This record gives sequence, structure tokens and C-alpha cells, in this order.
Amino acid sequence: MTNAKKFQKVMLVGDGAVGSSYAFAMMHQGLAEEFVIVDVVKERTEGDALDLEDVQAFTSPKNVYSGEYSDAKDADLVVITAGAPQKPGETRLDLVNKNLKILSTIVKPIVDSGFDGIFLIAANPVDILTYATWKFSGFPKNKVIGSGTSLDTARLRAALGKKFNVDPRNVEAYIMGEHGDSEFAAYDEATIGSKPLMTIAKENGVTKDELLKIEDETRHKAYEIINRKGATFYGVATALMRISKAILRDENAVLPVGAPLDGEYGLNDIFIGTPAVINANGIESVIEIPLSDEEKAKMAASAETLKKVTKDGLD
Ligand code: 2OP
Repeated sequence: MTNAKKFQKVMLVGDGAVGSSYAFAMMHQGLAEEFVIVDVVKERTEGDALDLEDVQAFTSPKNVYSGEYSDAKDADLVVITAGAPQKPGETRLDLVNKNLKILSTIVKPIVDSGFDGIFLIAANPVDILTYATWKFSGFPKNKVIGSGTSLDTARLRAALGKKFNVDPRNVEAYIMGEHGDSEFAAYDEATIGSKPLMTIAKENGVTKDELLKIEDETRHKAYEIINRKGATFYGVATALMRISKAILRDENAVLPVGAPLDGEYGLNDIFIGTPAVINANGIESVIEIPLSDEEKAKMAASAETLKKVTKDGLD
């Protein structure tokens, strides 16, 4: 038995490239019977609702409409993608002041509506904005989730899948830490078919340097995409859909997300990328990977980067 409800409502806040790609992915998965889109550009949400209606004759009927924050009252999930995106040359952390301001105008009216569901945050810098959503909302920690390193982990798995010629879905490897420049690949615990990735690499003549190059390319992939097409959206939209599905279907799925830590990895008072169990309650539990000492130090350094920005931005 799961706790998944039969009729589910999702609100999307932020109808830019990420938001509308997410809405499209949700329609294709047949998720959310009611889907309401909110953005400061009302014409855009109205246009997108009409456009998404045209998808439904091929997928399944939904009530998709352009709405207001007050519509969050009976929503199960609110997904926030609203915020300024990175310009070429900008880091995610450069966006913090602009996007914290925008976020503060979103979370309050949603909470005031009586919303009692799960917040899923994707706007950047996502770990800081997830922490801020928790603070602004006063919600229990488990009901606030960040997209964290979900996209970075997908990028890493795709690259390793290519390198070792296996389906990326069978690569169990995680990008941990900040969704940003201080993230790292937890290679020491990574496996393919339960076999340690480091053993597989050795047997295939793949050096540590090659693995570190893959890690670095993963870390910088967003910059490569932004330099070419101005923004990234399909990857993150699909990651958001996957997390939404775990919530709406009460899956108890193990996914990399931005999760609140309570002593795991020796860290507290932070939302950061780690695997966690996701279900209708939001974050059911955090899975603490038994990191090597070197990786523990990388996790601590990544957390320090975030804490400094959180302190400067929120205190
Ligand atoms: C990404 O990693 C820009 O955070 C966005 O694609």
C-alpha cells in the first residue's frame, strides 16, 4: 500500500525554459491530474497552458491552467524554477542575491494560501535557495527538497555509461555536495552491477586521471551548454519530473537530491547533494554514503562553500 493519492495537483512557479520543459515532461508521464502554472508573465503561462492542452489527446487528460499563488492551497507539490538564469561566465553562486529576493516573494504567498504539500526547488544556486525555502516557509525539513545533484549525477552516469559501454541506469555513482563548482564524484563507492567502479576501471585500463577528467567535465557541463545555447533545460526538467514522480507515486525511490543533513557526513543546518529516500512525505530519510576520508574532506569543503554564501545571503 502506498500513500499516493488518486487525484494530484502540482503547481509550477516559473514558466521559463526549465519550467515549461518540466511541464511537458510531466504531461508525457501522465503525472498530476491538475497542473497549475504561475509566472509574473501571465501571457506566457496562458499560452503554455493552451499549448500543453494539445499534448493531452496523445497522453492523458489533465486540467492544465494558468493560475495564482492562492491555487497552491490544495496542491500536493509546488515546484519552483523561477529566478534569473546564469549568463555565460556567471557561476550559480553569482545569482544568489537576485534569486533570494525573487524566492522570498514566492514562498510567502504560497504558505499563506494554506499550502501543506512538498516544495521542490530548482532555481539556482539551488542548495542555498532550498535552505531559504525551508527558512521562509517554516515547513518541516522533510517537506522541502532541492534538485541538488540530481542532474549532475545523471550527467556522470551518462558519461560513465559511455566510457564502460553499459546502460547509464545501471551505473550506481553519485555526484555529491553543492550543485556547482565544489561538487565531486564519490568514485570510491561507485559500482556497476555491484562491482566496484575502481576495479572495473583498472581491469579496463581506465586511469584515475581519466575518471577525474570525467568528473571535471560533469562539473563543467552546464557551462558548455550555456555557452552554446544560452541555458540548460531538458536535463534538469527531467530530473525534476523524476523526483516529482517519486513524491506523487509514493515510491520510496533512492534519488540524489538536495537534502537537509542532521549529522550525516558530520554536517548540520544545510541542504546539500546526497542520495535520499523520496516518497509522499518528501524526504523520508537521507542515505549517508560511507565516504572515504578524501571524499569526506571534499564534502566538508563543499558544505563550507555553501555555508559561507548562506551566511552572507541570509543572515
Ligand atoms: C545546470 O546544471 C544550470 O544548474 C544548471 O544545468
